[in-house]
Amino acid sequence: MKGVILAGGLGTRLFPLTKITNKHLLPVYDRPMIYYPIQTLVDAGIDDIMIVTGGRKSGDFLSLLGNGKEFGLKHLNYTYQEGEGGIAEALGLARHWAQGDSVCVVLGDNLIEKNIIAPVAAFRKQGEGAKILLKEVDDPERFGVAEVVDGKVLRIIEKPSEPVSRMAVIGIYMYDGQVWDIIDELKPSERGELEITDVNNWYIDQGSMTCDVMEGWWTDAGTFESLYSAATRVAQGGANHKD
Ligand code: DAU
Repeated sequence: MKGVILAGGLGTRLFPLTKITNKHLLPVYDRPMIYYPIQTLVDAGIDDIMIVTGGRKSGDFLSLLGNGKEFGLKHLNYTYQEGEGGIAEALGLARHWAQGDSVCVVLGDNLIEKNIIAPVAAFRKQGEGAKILLKEVDDPERFGVAEVVDGKVLRIIEKPSEPVSRMAVIGIYMYDGQVWDIIDELKPSERGELEITDVNNWYIDQGSMTCDVMEGWWTDAGTFESLYSAATRVAQGGANHKD
């Protein structure tokens, strides 16, 4: 399984912090934001990684990360997303490199307390389809929200004004090699983006989506409140714990 980190987009919710740099290069306590998703993949034994950059100062990713030596990697792959066409568009840019392999996708602004070793192992065993990770939150309207019955996801609704549950879909997704053709068929949403939620709902409709509930804290860092809370959580107890 290969790993893809999505670090494109313009990060407008963090203006003016992102006026001259890419959101994922901003600090979260003692490290640049992009360090956390890389560590998440490396801890799960995924060492063939593509970073999709975009927006401003994308060349700085190379200066910062090089070949990933700091993470014990021999090589890192980079590609560039023009504009802000959505999470699924950004993922589609990894197609030529993934060459039909399954992928574990991590959003560049998602941090976790623990690790994804168990769900990655479960997805390898599952062999096909897709897997998402869920976490109960107090503010589900900010996220993709899953309707879950008897451990099965029936539907995901992106940022609903009246959420059907408090189970947010976190920004870590596992897909088999069908994902590339699914992305090709997507139409832009009302906000003009190719939505990862549409990809996930395609797998749900096919009956090949599984879900796990994430242990430990999870947060994004794409708003002032969540960036602050992410830094506080890291400062208080660290992220990416092995156990
Ligand atoms: O954090 C989890 C949530 O992430 C999910 O619950 C939602 O279903 C999912 O749509 C997403 O919601 P956000 O609105 O928070 O996503 P955002 O636009 O902030 O993008 C998250 C990351 O995805 C961002 O840090 C970089 C990457 N991205 C995003 C866009 C729009 C790209 O690489 N390219 C893009 O065009």
